[in-house]
Amino acid sequence: MPFDQAASRRQFLKYLSASPLLASTAALAGEGPAAGVKLPDPIQWAPLRTEDLIKSAKDAINVFDFEPVARVNIPPAHFGYMASGIDDEVTLRANREGFLKFQLRPRRLVDVSKVDMSVELLGVKYPTPIIIAPVGGQRSFHPEGELAVAKAAKAGDHLQILSTSTNTGVEEVTAARGAPLWYQLYATNKWDVAKAMVARAENAGCLAIAVTVDRSGGRNQETLFRLIPTDGRNCNACHERGSLATNMKRRAMYQGLDLSGLTHTQSSAMTWDFLKRLRDATKMKIVIKGILAHEDAVLAADAGIDAIIVSNHGARSEDSGRSTIDALPEIVEAVRGRIPILVDSGFRRGTDIVKALCLGASAVCVGRPYIWGLGAFGQPGVERVLELLRVELHAAMQQVGAPTIKHLVPNMVRRTT
Ligand SMILES: Cc1cc2nc3c(=O)[nH]c(=O)nc-3n(C[C@H](O)[C@H](O)[C@H](O)COP(=O)(O)O)c2cc1C
Repeated sequence: MPFDQAASRRQFLKYLSASPLLASTAALAGEGPAAGVKLPDPIQWAPLRTEDLIKSAKDAINVFDFEPVARVNIPPAHFGYMASGIDDEVTLRANREGFLKFQLRPRRLVDVSKVDMSVELLGVKYPTPIIIAPVGGQRSFHPEGELAVAKAAKAGDHLQILSTSTNTGVEEVTAARGAPLWYQLYATNKWDVAKAMVARAENAGCLAIAVTVDRSGGRNQETLFRLIPTDGRNCNACHERGSLATNMKRRAMYQGLDLSGLTHTQSSAMTWDFLKRLRDATKMKIVIKGILAHEDAVLAADAGIDAIIVSNHGARSEDSGRSTIDALPEIVEAVRGRIPILVDSGFRRGTDIVKALCLGASAVCVGRPYIWGLGAFGQPGVERVLELLRVELHAAMQQVGAPTIKHLVPNMVRRTT
């Protein structure tokens, strides 16, 4: 049922007018109960009607404004695939709620008239620490898919990590981005497939290979499963599930490879030996995506891995209930600056990013928000999502008194629970 703001306001005023406390104050002021009353929470009085969808990307006030528009535009099964967590979606909620446990401690009388948000990652300077996380099959959200995202990344000059499950080949996406990407690797159960993809990414000029290590088993994506039956289309028309090879028809990076013997796109058998083998197969930097425990972070640094991404895959790989902002401090402490630590999962606000950077992250990746932008308005939607995040980050840095990323230090953030 749509939220009737006028009715709710009337009800609230009726309640206030019945209050003896207010009656006496109002009588003293010689006013009726309506005058001078400010409802305590903008959620009650601001014109926030989710049925009034934004009409264009520039209308968006924050990244959340794109989600309901994307929900209208994207077929229900694809939307469900994007939105879904696992089981009870405890981790999905934890990823957002985790930020509430940390408060910022702003510093004053620091010149923040100019803010420099640039960071250096694996030897390359980027104007912001906001990175585009790998998301597979982006044409299922908009016909221009990864190319629209690459052009938006170019407009805002963001590092883009391209998924193994991309609909468009790494060469074309690199050309659209106009700068080197990082390539995310799902290793599969077959070394030759992984090796060929890595070689292709290297030839396309990718700087790093981000090996995803958190998709090692099955997953119960209940939101997806509940939305599939509401999608009137025939899924089998596009997803030919006869074999993994036919199912991969729309996944550009599998084209031309010998897929015989391929039983899984992920790799549940992967161990540290795989990383050693990978090191010998490429000159690119190696990043591990999906670290959540300090023990694994130290093993990664010991193994000569170039960087890690603290990630629970946007709550899409397990329902542990642990947010990444909760996991980050123990990992930063254990790694002691030996390798850069990136983080993702649940980042939606400039203050979220500032909290992670204060806690010791070098950069932050975002997933769903730019997919909401893509699904809502294509490239302009992604551009606006990234712009909003940059604007919020800039403002948040000014608010805490940090003219550069290096000024975001641990004592600017305090854990409260
Ligand atoms: C629809 C969707 C598809 C994804 N596909 C991949 C993928 O192919 N490879 C990968 O490593 N991570 C994938 N991820 C995870 C993201 O890289 C990232 O970890 C996550 O989205 C961050 O959380 P957020 O969505 O809350 O920002 C995907 C996420 C979504 C939402």
